[in-house]
Amino acid sequence: SFDPKIRPQFLKDYIGQEKLKETLSIFIEAAKKRKQSLDHCLFYGPPGLGKTTISNIIANELGVHCKITSGPAIEKPGEIAAILNNLSEGDVLFVDEIHRLNRQVEEVLYPAMEDFAIDVLLGKESSTRSIRLDLPRFTLVGATTRAGLLSAPLRDRFGIIGKLEFYKEEELEEIVLRSAKVLSISIDEGGAKSIALRSRVHQVLANRLLKRVRDFAEIKYNGVIRKEVAEDALDLLDVDTLGLDTYDRQYLWNLIEKFSGGPVGVETLATSLGEDRGTLEDMIEPYLILQGLIDRTPRGRIATKHAYQHLGLSEA
Ligand code: ADE
Repeated sequence: SFDPKIRPQFLKDYIGQEKLKETLSIFIEAAKKRKQSLDHCLFYGPPGLGKTTISNIIANELGVHCKITSGPAIEKPGEIAAILNNLSEGDVLFVDEIHRLNRQVEEVLYPAMEDFAIDVLLGKESSTRSIRLDLPRFTLVGATTRAGLLSAPLRDRFGIIGKLEFYKEEELEEIVLRSAKVLSISIDEGGAKSIALRSRVHQVLANRLLKRVRDFAEIKYNGVIRKEVAEDALDLLDVDTLGLDTYDRQYLWNLIEKFSGGPVGVETLATSLGEDRGTLEDMIEPYLILQGLIDRTPRGRIATKHAYQHLGLSEA
Protein backbone atom coordinates (compact mmCIF):
# COMPACT_ATOMS: atom_id res chain seq x y z
CA SER A 1 0.00 0.00 0.00
CA PHE A 2 2.91 2.38 0.46
CA ASP A 3 5.92 3.15 -1.67
CA PRO A 4 8.14 0.08 -1.48
CA LYS A 5 11.18 2.32 -1.24
CA ILE A 6 10.36 3.20 2.34
CA ARG A 7 10.34 -0.38 3.45
CA PRO A 8 13.72 -1.48 4.73
CA GLN A 9 15.29 -4.21 2.59
CA PHE A 10 17.61 -5.80 5.13
CA LEU A 11 17.52 -6.54 8.84
CA LYS A 12 20.16 -3.94 9.64
CA ASP A 13 17.84 -1.18 8.37
CA TYR A 14 14.79 -2.47 10.19
CA ILE A 15 13.94 -0.43 13.27
CA GLY A 16 12.32 -2.08 16.30
CA GLN A 17 11.22 -5.69 16.98
CA GLU A 18 14.69 -6.20 18.45
CA LYS A 19 14.18 -9.67 19.85
CA LEU A 20 12.64 -10.99 16.65
CA LYS A 21 15.42 -9.45 14.56
CA GLU A 22 18.12 -11.00 16.70
CA THR A 23 16.69 -14.52 16.60
CA LEU A 24 15.82 -14.31 12.92
CA SER A 25 19.31 -13.21 11.97
CA ILE A 26 20.69 -16.31 13.68
CA PHE A 27 18.24 -18.67 11.98
CA ILE A 28 18.89 -17.08 8.60
CA GLU A 29 22.66 -17.29 9.00
CA ALA A 30 22.45 -20.91 10.13
CA ALA A 31 20.25 -21.89 7.17
CA LYS A 32 22.61 -20.17 4.75
CA LYS A 33 25.64 -21.81 6.30
CA ARG A 34 24.06 -25.24 5.94
CA LYS A 35 22.80 -24.31 2.45
CA GLN A 36 19.28 -25.24 3.48
CA SER A 37 16.02 -23.42 3.08
CA LEU A 38 14.97 -21.48 6.17
CA ASP A 39 12.41 -23.23 8.34
CA HIS A 40 8.79 -22.07 7.85
CA CYS A 41 7.99 -18.92 9.83
CA LEU A 42 4.74 -17.78 11.39
CA PHE A 43 4.40 -14.17 12.49
CA TYR A 44 1.48 -13.01 14.54
CA GLY A 45 0.30 -9.78 16.11
CA PRO A 46 -1.98 -6.83 15.36
CA PRO A 47 -1.91 -5.53 11.78
CA GLY A 48 0.41 -2.73 10.77
CA LEU A 49 3.47 -3.89 12.66
CA GLY A 50 5.51 -5.00 9.67
CA LYS A 51 4.84 -8.66 8.95
CA THR A 52 5.02 -8.14 5.18
CA THR A 53 8.18 -6.09 5.54
CA ILE A 54 9.85 -8.82 7.60
CA SER A 55 8.92 -11.41 5.01
CA ASN A 56 10.53 -9.38 2.23
CA ILE A 57 13.61 -8.87 4.36
CA ILE A 58 13.91 -12.60 5.00
CA ALA A 59 13.88 -13.23 1.24
CA ASN A 60 16.48 -10.50 0.66
CA GLU A 61 18.72 -11.83 3.41
CA LEU A 62 18.47 -15.33 1.95
CA GLY A 63 19.05 -13.98 -1.56
CA VAL A 64 15.82 -15.44 -2.93
CA HIS A 65 12.52 -14.16 -4.29
CA CYS A 66 9.47 -13.46 -2.19
CA LYS A 67 6.09 -14.40 -3.66
CA ILE A 68 3.17 -12.74 -1.92
CA THR A 69 -0.37 -14.01 -1.57
CA SER A 70 -3.05 -14.20 1.10
CA GLY A 71 -5.42 -16.69 2.69
CA PRO A 72 -8.62 -15.32 1.16
CA ALA A 73 -7.00 -15.05 -2.31
CA ILE A 74 -6.47 -18.79 -2.64
CA GLU A 75 -9.77 -20.56 -3.16
CA LYS A 76 -8.93 -23.95 -4.62
CA PRO A 77 -6.34 -26.63 -3.91
CA GLY A 78 -5.18 -26.36 -7.52
CA GLU A 79 -4.36 -22.69 -7.02
CA ILE A 80 -2.01 -23.28 -4.11
CA ALA A 81 -0.51 -26.24 -5.94
CA ALA A 82 0.25 -24.02 -8.93
CA ILE A 83 1.81 -21.32 -6.73
CA LEU A 84 4.01 -23.88 -4.97
CA ASN A 85 5.01 -25.54 -8.21
CA ASN A 86 6.13 -22.21 -9.67
CA LEU A 87 8.51 -21.38 -6.84
CA SER A 88 12.27 -21.55 -7.37
CA GLU A 89 14.62 -23.35 -5.03
CA GLY A 90 14.80 -21.62 -1.64
CA ASP A 91 12.09 -19.02 -2.39
CA VAL A 92 9.95 -17.41 0.27
CA LEU A 93 6.18 -17.71 -0.09
CA PHE A 94 4.42 -15.11 2.03
CA VAL A 95 0.80 -15.90 2.91
CA ASP A 96 -0.90 -13.00 4.65
CA GLU A 97 -3.99 -13.75 6.76
CA ILE A 98 -3.02 -17.38 6.63
CA HIS A 99 -5.77 -18.30 9.12
CA ARG A 100 -8.27 -17.64 6.34
CA LEU A 101 -7.11 -20.49 4.09
CA ASN A 102 -9.85 -23.02 3.57
CA ARG A 103 -9.50 -26.57 4.73
CA GLN A 104 -8.77 -28.18 1.36
CA VAL A 105 -6.13 -25.61 0.52
CA GLU A 106 -4.59 -26.10 3.96
CA GLU A 107 -4.35 -29.82 3.36
CA VAL A 108 -2.23 -29.25 0.26
CA LEU A 109 0.15 -27.29 2.45
CA TYR A 110 0.81 -30.09 4.95
CA PRO A 111 2.94 -32.34 2.71
CA ALA A 112 4.28 -29.27 0.92
CA MET A 113 5.65 -27.83 4.17
CA GLU A 114 6.80 -31.13 5.59
CA ASP A 115 8.18 -33.05 2.62
CA PHE A 116 8.30 -30.43 -0.15
CA ALA A 117 5.82 -32.45 -2.17
CA ILE A 118 2.20 -32.30 -3.22
CA ASP A 119 -0.21 -35.08 -3.99
CA VAL A 120 -1.98 -34.49 -7.27
CA LEU A 121 -5.26 -36.27 -7.90
CA LEU A 122 -5.72 -37.77 -11.33
CA GLY A 123 -8.91 -39.02 -12.92
CA LYS A 124 -12.49 -38.58 -11.84
CA GLU A 125 -14.43 -39.79 -8.82
CA SER A 126 -14.50 -43.61 -8.92
CA SER A 127 -11.15 -44.00 -10.63
CA THR A 128 -9.02 -41.38 -8.88
CA ARG A 129 -5.42 -42.05 -8.01
CA SER A 130 -2.80 -39.63 -6.83
CA ILE A 131 0.78 -39.03 -7.76
CA ARG A 132 3.35 -37.27 -5.64
CA LEU A 133 4.97 -34.24 -7.22
CA ASP A 134 8.23 -32.93 -5.79
CA LEU A 135 8.49 -29.23 -5.11
CA PRO A 136 11.49 -26.99 -4.80
CA ARG A 137 12.51 -26.42 -1.19
CA PHE A 138 10.89 -23.21 0.00
CA THR A 139 10.14 -21.21 3.12
CA LEU A 140 6.53 -20.52 3.92
CA VAL A 141 6.08 -17.28 5.84
CA GLY A 142 2.61 -16.97 7.29
CA ALA A 143 1.11 -13.90 8.92
CA THR A 144 -1.91 -13.75 11.16
CA THR A 145 -3.32 -11.55 13.87
CA ARG A 146 -3.36 -14.33 16.46
CA ALA A 147 -1.49 -17.64 16.41
CA GLY A 148 -4.51 -19.31 18.01
CA LEU A 149 -6.58 -18.71 14.89
CA LEU A 150 -4.59 -21.35 12.99
CA SER A 151 -5.57 -24.97 13.07
CA ALA A 152 -3.19 -27.01 15.20
CA PRO A 153 -1.85 -29.13 12.30
CA LEU A 154 -0.94 -26.02 10.34
CA ARG A 155 0.57 -24.21 13.32
CA ASP A 156 2.67 -27.24 14.21
CA ARG A 157 4.37 -27.19 10.84
CA PHE A 158 6.04 -23.84 11.48
CA GLY A 159 9.53 -24.15 12.93
CA ILE A 160 9.83 -20.47 13.76
CA ILE A 161 7.02 -18.57 15.46
CA GLY A 162 7.49 -14.89 16.16
CA LYS A 163 5.33 -12.30 17.82
CA LEU A 164 5.30 -8.76 16.47
CA GLU A 165 5.29 -6.20 19.27
CA PHE A 166 3.89 -2.70 19.28
CA TYR A 167 6.61 -0.16 18.56
CA LYS A 168 8.02 2.16 21.19
CA GLU A 169 7.52 5.84 20.53
CA GLU A 170 11.25 6.41 20.00
CA GLU A 171 11.34 3.60 17.45
CA LEU A 172 8.42 5.08 15.54
CA GLU A 173 10.09 8.46 15.58
CA GLU A 174 13.18 6.86 14.11
CA ILE A 175 11.06 5.12 11.45
CA VAL A 176 9.35 8.41 10.54
CA LEU A 177 12.71 10.19 10.26
CA ARG A 178 14.15 7.36 8.16
CA SER A 179 11.11 7.28 5.85
CA ALA A 180 11.19 11.08 5.52
CA LYS A 181 14.81 10.87 4.46
CA VAL A 182 14.06 8.17 1.89
CA LEU A 183 11.20 10.25 0.46
CA SER A 184 13.08 13.58 0.69
CA ILE A 185 10.50 15.05 3.03
CA SER A 186 11.62 17.98 5.23
CA ILE A 187 10.71 17.29 8.81
CA ASP A 188 12.05 18.38 12.17
CA GLU A 189 12.19 16.44 15.42
CA GLY A 190 8.96 17.97 16.72
CA GLY A 191 7.11 16.96 13.58
CA ALA A 192 8.47 13.40 13.74
CA LYS A 193 7.56 13.15 17.42
CA SER A 194 3.96 14.23 16.77
CA ILE A 195 3.48 11.71 14.00
CA ALA A 196 5.09 8.95 16.06
CA LEU A 197 2.90 9.75 19.05
CA ARG A 198 -0.27 9.54 17.04
CA SER A 199 0.53 6.45 15.03
CA ARG A 200 -0.91 4.06 17.60
CA VAL A 201 2.46 2.42 17.75
CA HIS A 202 2.06 1.09 14.22
CA GLN A 203 4.79 1.46 11.68
CA VAL A 204 2.39 1.28 8.73
CA LEU A 205 0.25 4.07 10.10
CA ALA A 206 3.31 6.19 10.90
CA ASN A 207 4.40 6.00 7.28
CA ARG A 208 0.92 6.66 5.97
CA LEU A 209 0.47 9.68 8.23
CA LEU A 210 3.89 10.96 7.24
CA LYS A 211 2.80 11.10 3.60
CA ARG A 212 -0.53 12.75 4.36
CA VAL A 213 1.09 15.31 6.64
CA ARG A 214 3.58 16.07 3.89
CA ASP A 215 0.65 17.01 1.63
CA PHE A 216 -0.54 19.49 4.23
CA ALA A 217 2.96 20.84 4.71
CA GLU A 218 3.41 21.39 0.99
CA ILE A 219 0.04 22.96 0.31
CA LYS A 220 -0.77 24.88 3.49
CA TYR A 221 2.69 25.59 4.86
CA ASN A 222 6.21 26.08 3.56
CA GLY A 223 6.87 22.39 3.02
CA VAL A 224 8.60 21.64 6.31
CA ILE A 225 6.85 19.33 8.76
CA ARG A 226 7.26 21.14 12.06
CA LYS A 227 5.35 20.24 15.21
CA GLU A 228 2.52 22.75 14.59
CA VAL A 229 2.14 21.60 11.00
CA ALA A 230 1.93 17.95 12.07
CA GLU A 231 -0.54 18.69 14.86
CA ASP A 232 -2.78 20.72 12.57
CA ALA A 233 -2.73 18.06 9.87
CA LEU A 234 -3.31 15.21 12.31
CA ASP A 235 -6.27 17.03 13.84
CA LEU A 236 -7.79 17.38 10.38
CA LEU A 237 -7.04 13.73 9.67
CA ASP A 238 -9.07 12.83 12.74
CA VAL A 239 -6.21 11.10 14.50
CA ASP A 240 -6.36 12.20 18.11
CA THR A 241 -3.58 12.77 20.63
CA LEU A 242 -3.54 9.14 21.77
CA GLY A 243 -3.49 7.99 18.17
CA LEU A 244 -7.06 6.74 18.31
CA ASP A 245 -8.90 6.66 15.02
CA THR A 246 -12.64 6.74 14.44
CA TYR A 247 -13.01 2.98 14.99
CA ASP A 248 -11.23 3.11 18.32
CA ARG A 249 -13.31 6.07 19.46
CA GLN A 250 -16.53 4.46 18.29
CA TYR A 251 -15.66 1.39 20.33
CA LEU A 252 -15.17 3.52 23.45
CA TRP A 253 -18.31 5.59 22.83
CA ASN A 254 -20.40 2.46 22.46
CA LEU A 255 -18.93 0.86 25.54
CA ILE A 256 -19.58 3.96 27.59
CA GLU A 257 -22.85 5.27 26.17
CA LYS A 258 -24.71 2.09 25.30
CA PHE A 259 -23.37 -0.16 28.02
CA SER A 260 -22.62 2.34 30.79
CA GLY A 261 -18.93 1.57 30.55
CA GLY A 262 -19.42 -2.18 30.98
CA PRO A 263 -18.88 -4.87 31.91
CA VAL A 264 -20.30 -6.06 28.63
CA GLY A 265 -19.59 -9.25 26.71
CA VAL A 266 -17.43 -8.93 23.63
CA GLU A 267 -20.10 -10.52 21.41
CA THR A 268 -22.70 -7.95 22.45
CA LEU A 269 -20.26 -5.12 21.97
CA ALA A 270 -19.26 -6.44 18.56
CA THR A 271 -22.88 -6.66 17.44
CA SER A 272 -23.56 -3.09 18.53
CA LEU A 273 -20.62 -1.94 16.42
CA GLY A 274 -21.54 -4.06 13.40
CA GLU A 275 -18.21 -5.86 13.61
CA ASP A 276 -17.34 -9.45 14.38
CA ARG A 277 -15.78 -10.48 17.61
CA GLY A 278 -12.44 -11.36 16.03
CA THR A 279 -12.03 -7.89 14.54
CA LEU A 280 -12.53 -6.35 17.95
CA GLU A 281 -10.21 -8.77 19.70
CA ASP A 282 -7.42 -8.71 17.14
CA MET A 283 -7.52 -5.28 15.57
CA ILE A 284 -9.04 -2.80 17.99
CA GLU A 285 -8.68 -4.00 21.56
CA PRO A 286 -4.92 -4.68 21.75
CA TYR A 287 -4.16 -0.99 21.36
CA LEU A 288 -6.93 0.15 23.70
CA ILE A 289 -5.62 -2.26 26.35
CA LEU A 290 -2.06 -1.10 25.80
CA GLN A 291 -3.18 2.49 26.35
CA GLY A 292 -5.06 1.52 29.50
CA LEU A 293 -8.41 2.62 28.06
CA ILE A 294 -10.22 -0.69 28.54
CA ASP A 295 -9.85 -3.81 30.66
CA ARG A 296 -10.82 -7.37 29.85
CA THR A 297 -12.54 -8.87 32.89
CA PRO A 298 -14.21 -12.27 33.34
CA ARG A 299 -17.59 -10.52 33.14
CA GLY A 300 -16.76 -8.58 30.01
CA ARG A 301 -15.10 -5.40 28.79
CA ILE A 302 -14.98 -2.28 30.93
CA ALA A 303 -13.96 1.28 30.16
CA THR A 304 -11.29 2.63 32.52
CA LYS A 305 -11.19 6.08 34.16
CA HIS A 306 -8.63 6.98 31.55
CA ALA A 307 -11.14 6.31 28.75
CA TYR A 308 -13.68 8.69 30.30
CA GLN A 309 -11.00 11.33 30.75
CA HIS A 310 -9.77 10.94 27.22
CA LEU A 311 -13.26 11.41 25.77
CA GLY A 312 -13.91 14.32 28.13
CA LEU A 313 -16.68 12.52 29.98
CA SER A 314 -17.34 12.13 33.67
CA GLU A 315 -17.78 8.64 35.03
CA ALA A 316 -21.38 7.56 35.52
N1 ADE B 1 9.69 1.37 7.38
C1 ADE B 1 8.62 0.66 7.66
N2 ADE B 1 8.84 -0.11 8.73
C2 ADE B 1 10.10 0.11 9.13
C3 ADE B 1 10.90 -0.39 10.17
N3 ADE B 1 10.45 -1.27 11.06
N4 ADE B 1 12.15 0.04 10.25
C4 ADE B 1 12.59 0.93 9.37
N5 ADE B 1 11.89 1.47 8.40
C5 ADE B 1 10.64 1.05 8.26
